[in-house]
Amino acid sequence: MQPQHGFSCFREKSATILGGDGGGTTNPIHSFDEWSPLKAVVVGRAGGACVPSPDDPMVRACVSERNLELLRRYKEQPFPSTLVDAANGELDNLASLLVRWGIQVFRPESVDFTRTFTTPHFSSKGLYAAMPRDSLITLGAELLQAPMAWRARFFEYLAYEKIKKTLVKSGGVWRTAPKPCMSDKLYDWHFQPSGPGHFATTEFKPCFDAADMIRCGQDVFVQRSQVTNLAGIAWIGSTLPKGMRMHRLVFDDPNPMHLDSTIMPLRPGLLLVNPQRRCHQAQFFLDAGWRMVEAPLPALPDDWPLYLSSAWLSMNLLVIDQRRVLVEAGEHATLRLLESLGFEPIPLPFRHVYSMGGGFHCATCDLHRSGGLESYGFSSMNS
Ligand code: ALA
Repeated sequence: MQPQHGFSCFREKSATILGGDGGGTTNPIHSFDEWSPLKAVVVGRAGGACVPSPDDPMVRACVSERNLELLRRYKEQPFPSTLVDAANGELDNLASLLVRWGIQVFRPESVDFTRTFTTPHFSSKGLYAAMPRDSLITLGAELLQAPMAWRARFFEYLAYEKIKKTLVKSGGVWRTAPKPCMSDKLYDWHFQPSGPGHFATTEFKPCFDAADMIRCGQDVFVQRSQVTNLAGIAWIGSTLPKGMRMHRLVFDDPNPMHLDSTIMPLRPGLLLVNPQRRCHQAQFFLDAGWRMVEAPLPALPDDWPLYLSSAWLSMNLLVIDQRRVLVEAGEHATLRLLESLGFEPIPLPFRHVYSMGGGFHCATCDLHRSGGLESYGFSSMNS
């Protein structure tokens, strides 16, 4: 089936999971980890995307000098149309491949994020719906929609409303975290980058992005980042589904925003780690019997435009089924590493999506993977 206007849902017979044997009442949402066989997923869309303003401290805090140049040049304008078209081509290609593999694919609605909106506390333009992982996370049998922390992302959820409706109608459990009003008090307006441990978001109200979590069965890892505050982490911890527990990780990372270019679990007991972002809790993984393998240096040329992220999107992988892993086609060292680890890495062009801020993991959100609430050797650490 071809993508339709707005919301579209690709489906193949072998991938049909909605309804199951329950004739439409089975919960279609089910995913506990990052590696079990993928059955249903959301793939983002690049259309309607708007470049955020680096004048906002919460944006500035998340990006490097390299990104800032582009943000200053294009702030509050649509992303260049040639880039959006190329990124959309890569996203559509990804969606088609997943469908050919029998995986059910959902796409967000097309939304014009370049329109200015006003709340009682601020006015802003939007960002995009290219990276569903940033705002959505499946925690076992429920999907949690994150409140976000960037003003530009306040209304991003609108792009997922039809997916939500479809899933809820099929028995899915979709939970939305309380959204902070994003008034001035949520931000440190004098924020200047001064190394790890300094944040542009205050503790005024809980805020978090879903991508600051990584799932390993009953254990969910989270980081305090520029977009996830301690109040947000406490809120997640207090509402985790039964049987799950949360562990907070800290990394040497001056612009922490999202965990999935910092650590990436590939299968039970195997964690890909960013060699430039030391994990203060590495021993916790080693004590649990996990092997930590350093990701190779990214292959992206220095002059490749990156608006919002680092080149470490090279380790932002999507594991399909413990054998197949999607890897950007130019990341030869990562492809070789995965082969040596016993995987069948699948190279796919994705550099234009990189430019917009994410890799395969960011640009997707699993809705359904087989597997369940398992323990992978971790003890309790903190929560
Ligand atoms: N913000 C993450 C990085 O750039 C995705 O590494």
